[in-house]
Amino acid sequence: MISKKIVENLSNSSWIRAMFEEGAKLRKLHGDNNVYDFTLGNPDPEPPESVKESLKNLVMSGKPGIHRYMSNAGFNDVREKIAENINNETGLILSESHIIMTCGAAGGLNVVLKTLLNPDEEVIIFSPYFAEYKFYIENHSGKTVVVSPVKDTFEPDMKEFENSINKNTKAIIINSPNNPSGYIYREDTLRSILKIIEDKEKQFNTTIYVISDEPYNKLIYDDVKLPSILKIFKNSFVINSFSKSLSLPGERIGYIAVNPQLSDIDLLINSLVFCNRILGYVNAPALFQKVIAQSIDANVDVEIYKTRRDLLYDILTKTGFSCTKPQGAFYLFPKSPIDDDVEFVKHALKYNLLLVPGKGFGCPGYFRLTYCVSNETIKNSYSAFESLAKDYGL
Ligand SMILES: Cc1ncc(COP(=O)(O)O)c(C=O)c1O
Repeated sequence: MISKKIVENLSNSSWIRAMFEEGAKLRKLHGDNNVYDFTLGNPDPEPPESVKESLKNLVMSGKPGIHRYMSNAGFNDVREKIAENINNETGLILSESHIIMTCGAAGGLNVVLKTLLNPDEEVIIFSPYFAEYKFYIENHSGKTVVVSPVKDTFEPDMKEFENSINKNTKAIIINSPNNPSGYIYREDTLRSILKIIEDKEKQFNTTIYVISDEPYNKLIYDDVKLPSILKIFKNSFVINSFSKSLSLPGERIGYIAVNPQLSDIDLLINSLVFCNRILGYVNAPALFQKVIAQSIDANVDVEIYKTRRDLLYDILTKTGFSCTKPQGAFYLFPKSPIDDDVEFVKHALKYNLLLVPGKGFGCPGYFRLTYCVSNETIKNSYSAFESLAKDYGL
């Protein structure tokens, strides 16, 4: 028989499949244009032209060796380019040795967690959180500890955070811009987290690592600046990918940037590279390492997402929903008009609206919308939201 834990986890996340099946059923019944599916975070803008050009040129170049294995950390020249790019943005001094190429941000997270965790050590995550974190932590025998937000905000409750740390706390995961809220942590919030970590490290004589999951770091609006985690936290890793910034989620290309100030850094880096190997990733996709190195300064057109954010935010607020305007990623996370967000999301199906309940992100009472859909779909959804709002007296 297969693992009991997997069967249990599968049934706990069966709502994802249920939503997918519901969407397919509604589309068949009403046609694609009459179903408003805001569930999937699958970037739809095409990758920049420079990415396609690089890919074509690399494939056609006929250069021998381009499809072979390389170091488990990735190609040296690619890692050098990424280090240089981080240095230019932050003023830090990373070399290629501080970069490990991974199979997307998901691969990077698993490599770091595998490297750090002893059985039953704890990892703190802040709600609302990316639902996969719990599975990734469990993959490596860790325990997830969830810290809630301050009521009606997406700011971590610092008192609860402080009380959640004990001698078994190994790491915290920060995700900013956040999935599902689109929220960006301000520098003073990060400094408050740092102060608590430093005090607790002294109290327990431990090291608490900060894992910063940043796949949305290039999807930022309104001229907001993302504070540099590597500059604020000495014991930190940045996990990033090109899934959103270059619209390449299916190509599985990302990296880990290791803070050069970490102690035992040589052992740490060797361990990360080893874990990339033994988790079976072996190395990040060869061709796409080369592609992203040639497009390191490219980005998808952020205006596409900003326009959609504004359109969808206007519809929601005009129809009476309560929503904070996010400044990053491609999500909106409004309040459910009733406490039971699962019930609310089920009711929305009546108007062919597909939404995701906040419960799945550890934040009941909210619902998530992804704007990886066309402007037309967003505009056409107005009357559906209007009818839905009316049902709840908004
Ligand atoms: C917060 C967060 N982290 C990690 C990932 C995984 O990204 P990747 O496709 O680069 O593995 C996602 C994907 O949606 C995400 O939302």
